[in-house]
Amino acid sequence: MPGKTLMWDQTLFRRGEIFEFDHVPEHFAHRDSQLQSLLFGVRPAMQGMRPIDLMCVGPPGTGKTTAVKKAFEELGEHAPGVITVHVNCQANPTRYTIFSSIFHKLIGHAPPSSGVSFRKILDEIARYLIQNEKILIVALDDINYLFYEKEVDNVLYSLLRAHETHPGTKISVIAILSDDRMNYVFDPKVGSIFLPEEILFPVYAWDELKSILRDRAKLGFYDRVISDDVIDVIADYTSDAGDLRVGIDLLKRSGLGAEQRASMTILVDDVHFAYRKSRMLHLSRIISSLSDGERAILAILAKKGAATAGDVYVVFHELMGLGYTRFHTMLNKLVSLRLIDTDFQTAGMHGRSRTIKLRYGADDVLSAVQPTPGT
Ligand SMILES: Nc1ncnc2c1ncn2[C@@H]1O[C@H](COP(=O)(O)OP(=O)(O)OP(=O)(O)O)[C@@H](O)[C@H]1O
Ligand SMILES: [Mg+2]
Repeated sequence: MPGKTLMWDQTLFRRGEIFEFDHVPEHFAHRDSQLQSLLFGVRPAMQGMRPIDLMCVGPPGTGKTTAVKKAFEELGEHAPGVITVHVNCQANPTRYTIFSSIFHKLIGHAPPSSGVSFRKILDEIARYLIQNEKILIVALDDINYLFYEKEVDNVLYSLLRAHETHPGTKISVIAILSDDRMNYVFDPKVGSIFLPEEILFPVYAWDELKSILRDRAKLGFYDRVISDDVIDVIADYTSDAGDLRVGIDLLKRSGLGAEQRASMTILVDDVHFAYRKSRMLHLSRIISSLSDGERAILAILAKKGAATAGDVYVVFHELMGLGYTRFHTMLNKLVSLRLIDTDFQTAGMHGRSRTIKLRYGADDVLSAVQPTPGT
């Protein structure tokens, strides 16, 4: 590229698609053990057996979706008798839509949109599997979105009991749960048939984040567009958020920012500037998955500033009519999602006197939780 400023028709991006979130990276480092566990779980399918049910658990942006897609790619190459379906439960939040997606993948077109019962769709799926001697693995991604209305119990029950309702079918499930811990209790009748092996996805260490981001930058930008120092700053921000998406989004936005300045290189200031937007994106994404009660807690904190658990509970109880146990569970979830901080050490895990505060700006939180019921 000639000259020091970027011409209007020049770009810093060698391959822009590298920075899209659904891009499956060629090089998937630091997740060897998780990938091994996944492959180990699905391997029985290669001998015609039903695979082991699995559950991938970890905070947002820790590579769960990517790992499952990689494992499915591998299976696609080596196991012709296996059909894998990846369902996004946020986009398909009911048993009917989930089974319609499975039907679509198997048969090649969506089921007729009206007048077809769930039962009929399941019959067709089972018939296809038996006739073609295929084993089906369904990944239920972001299964959290099925937790409301207990839809998750129906979905799992139908999938995992298919071998009883439709003898000869072999279906297994990989659940993907975006959460620091497994705080959902399945219906007892589901709990007895869904006994998955858990695969944990911890947040990446700073060095891991940096090397992943550096790899991406190398592929996505032209040479000399971004320096190691600038990537360090992005790694710092990413590490604070715990979500690799923040870093990938920062790479993209910083690049666009530098282009807007007609600069041939990305500077640290481009990163700082991009961060403000990136942070909002991260926040809205997490908050959109929360329950009304959890949002209410955030809204209360945003209005009050730091407060004791007891004080927040009084307002929460008035608004939502829910008891302390539910409140406590929700608080823990908000801590695990890194939305709030609480001083466990000084006041004890469960104490009403522990202080809670938001990890984000009150205004940002308020605009992301709107509209909050009852306020
Ligand atoms: N080890 C890795 N190497 C390269 N890229 C990675 C790695 N882990 C994650 N990524 C990238 O980070 C982004 C987020 O990863 P992914 O979507 O797999 O996270 P997730 O754990 O499914 O998050 P969520 O719980 O929010 O759905 C993706 O763009 C993915 O390509
Ligand atoms: Mg995911």
